[in-house]
Amino acid sequence: MPPDSFYITTPIYYVNDNPHLGHIYTTVVADAIARFKRACGYDVYFLTGTDEHGQKIEKSAAKQGITPLELADLVVSVYHDLWKKMEISHTRFIRTTDQVHQKGVTRLFEIIRDRGDIYAGDYEGWYCTSCEKYISEKEAVERRCPDCGKETELLKEPCHFFRLSKYQQPLLDHYRTHPEFVQPPSRLNEVMAFVEGGLRDLSISRSSIRWGVPVPAVPSEVMYVWFDALSNYITGAGYGSDDEAFARRWPAAIHLIGKDILRFHAVYWPAYLMAAGIPLPRTVFAHGWWLQDNRKMSKSLGNVFNPAPLIERYGPDALRYFLLRDVTLGLDSNFSEEAVRNRYNFDLANDLGNLNSRVQKLLDRTGEVTPEEALPAGPDEEAVRASYYKCRNTYVDAFNEYAPSRALAAAWEFITTLNGYIAAREPWTMLGDPARRPRLLRVLQTCTEGLRVVGLMVAPAMPDAAARIAATLGAPPGDPWEFDHNRRFRLSPSNAALFPRIIEKEKPVEETKIEETQKEAANLISIGDFQKVQLRVAQVKTAERVEGAKKLLKLIVDIGTETRQIVAGIAEAYEPEALVGKKIIVVANLKPAVLRGVESQGMLLAASIGGLPVIATFEGDPPAGTAVK
Ligand code: ME8
Ligand code: MG
Repeated sequence: MPPDSFYITTPIYYVNDNPHLGHIYTTVVADAIARFKRACGYDVYFLTGTDEHGQKIEKSAAKQGITPLELADLVVSVYHDLWKKMEISHTRFIRTTDQVHQKGVTRLFEIIRDRGDIYAGDYEGWYCTSCEKYISEKEAVERRCPDCGKETELLKEPCHFFRLSKYQQPLLDHYRTHPEFVQPPSRLNEVMAFVEGGLRDLSISRSSIRWGVPVPAVPSEVMYVWFDALSNYITGAGYGSDDEAFARRWPAAIHLIGKDILRFHAVYWPAYLMAAGIPLPRTVFAHGWWLQDNRKMSKSLGNVFNPAPLIERYGPDALRYFLLRDVTLGLDSNFSEEAVRNRYNFDLANDLGNLNSRVQKLLDRTGEVTPEEALPAGPDEEAVRASYYKCRNTYVDAFNEYAPSRALAAAWEFITTLNGYIAAREPWTMLGDPARRPRLLRVLQTCTEGLRVVGLMVAPAMPDAAARIAATLGAPPGDPWEFDHNRRFRLSPSNAALFPRIIEKEKPVEETKIEETQKEAANLISIGDFQKVQLRVAQVKTAERVEGAKKLLKLIVDIGTETRQIVAGIAEAYEPEALVGKKIIVVANLKPAVLRGVESQGMLLAASIGGLPVIATFEGDPPAGTAVK
């Protein structure tokens, strides 16, 4: 019988920017699960990739003066390098610009339309380009996106609708009969509450955008990026191109995602599949967020942690271990480099690294370990073996329940058992005494076999460390899980320390980053740096003094698209009345600040002469809102 298949996916990531720690997180977790399942004998299909269509990418490319595909190609090559470095073992990397994907998604659209659940209409609403979605009337607080806080725009366009309303009951039925469909359980409650609140039909195409997959037979429209993107999970498994392979792989066992995109995966996606008559994936698992200062790390918020220096300093294995071990899959966690360093020094350098080096050093001294010469295993050795089976069972259950942190904790429990066993037996005191050699060999047999199975347990998290352990013990890949008191090893000379301690005194990456920034500050900036500052012509509408602050004036200025309140330290040099009507230059994208209790939503430009400001103005009379470059 062919092995059972196990199909696991990550989200396909946007190519408007480079990957950050959040993308590494999901992909590493998926990789560890994939490696675990492979070790269990499954035929694993592991899909990841990139989401390349839509307005967000179009705009980002335009800003950089390149085509969307050029931008996608650049970012995709960054992803390929990163996944190689991070030891990601995906079977396939799908891009939504791939021909086979476009063919598949076209077929899906046609089938749903033929079955009557896609129809033509007009859509009008507030759209957030950053999140690629319309914001409902209720959610649109002051026309800002409730998720990212950015301004939304009013769009009206001919489009096609998906009859989502029809699937409210079928979805609720599915959640009730398949509670494992959305995990963890708290997320299932969230999804059910949302669906119980009622579902409106969904616009799934755009005529305002060019960069996308054309709607079949309606070339003036392209498919909504999320319809296109979600379909990757079937097109990437052969739907529309290799039906035989698709039948073997689908349904997916798990779509691993972040909780930011749960609704798309747990509501829209299963509804599309129902409409097309395709079976649903078994589980959508939404993990939590890595936070910086209690806010989601995200490209849109600009608070992402650059992973490169972390990988450099701690190595891919240790970073993978940290991400898998430090937080329960499903929960949020604040990221700190200190936490990475602690995991590294305590779990890896101390517990695992010391176990490895103690065993290796003993093996170097004794040479080959021959089970025939060893004393038979006694109660202490049986206790080690029993501890392994207990930990191993917890480990397997935990991984199968998508709880890698718990699985690794179980592996570490066994590492602690082994370290305790070695400390109690003190094998180093037996070295060089022929009379005690049989006992020494028994202890070493137990430690070596223990280290070997530890290698098997850490392999999904740390493939490189596991391979190094196996190589020095001469344990071939695919070695059995059973703990054998009399296994034979083909030892190779021990290698360098697995995880050399990282000295606390070394500067954490954050500090290095700041230093580099300071160094850079003394240097030249690029045109791109300058373009980040949005300067605009503004006309002063009103000006008044700020009570209790003799230097401050409060100005209301017109910046073309809106009016802004700006607080400026110019009261000693200008009378408020003299400013009204003047054209000045303001920084339009400065974070708002509160000065003496008054909010300032920008900054005006001025020279400072002998401590007194002189405001920058214009020779001509440019209209308010004009960009200043
Ligand atoms: O949403 N913590 O792509 P995306 C944990 N293209 N995980 C994080 C994270 C954080 N702070 N930030 C991002 C898209 N992620 C769509 C998906 S799928 C058909 C289309 C991870 O580039 C997490 O997996 O914004 C999240 O769901 C994903 O990156 C979003 O990546
Ligand atoms: Mg995102």
